Amino acid sequence: MGPLFSGVYFMISKLKVLITEEQIQDRIKKMGAQISEDYRGKEPILVSILKGSFLFLSDLIRAMDIPHEVDFMAVSSYGNSKDSTGVVRMLKDLSSDISGRHVLVVEDIVDTGLTWEYIRANLLTRRPVSLKISTLLNKEERRLVEVPVDYVGFVIPDQFVIGYGLDYQEKMRNLPYIGVLEE
Ligand code: IMP
Ligand code: MG
Repeated sequence: MGPLFSGVYFMISKLKVLITEEQIQDRIKKMGAQISEDYRGKEPILVSILKGSFLFLSDLIRAMDIPHEVDFMAVSSYGNSKDSTGVVRMLKDLSSDISGRHVLVVEDIVDTGLTWEYIRANLLTRRPVSLKISTLLNKEERRLVEVPVDYVGFVIPDQFVIGYGLDYQEKMRNLPYIGVLEE
């Protein structure tokens, strides 16, 4: 246990692997192939929602074989706790103009759906030709608002997950697998 984890040592002792590194990588290769097929000739902009989706984006685009661009947006919905406040704030906006473009949002997880609902409404005002989402994880049973979800890596149960970009109190994003913290 290195110094990186010292502050969360107690939790680490209760960490279980939910989705292995191999399962994640296999699934992303298939998603990349599917997205390449669906967007061939369309030069999409992939909009990665920071911070949680940066690892997923980096593996997803390397599993794609079509020309595309990437851009980033940061929103905050959680503060530093496990429970959503329901309030979404824009922390960083895109640097590109998405009007007339095919836009594919890249998310780590859709949970209550409030974040995606906010981002979707916000981006639609800029008149993209199409707007879809690719999320690594989908916690379907937690949904508070109905939102369309287009590409899903894994449907997971209502458990708080960490790793592969997802944090607990800003730490442990570097785990190569998805883990569950058990209370
Ligand atoms: P939503 O607005 O409830 O759909 O939540 C979306 C955001 O909440 C995600 O982008 C994550 O940053 C965060 N989130 C939701 N569930 C989890 C979890 O189980 N682990 C870590 N972050 C989560
Ligand atoms: Mg988060």
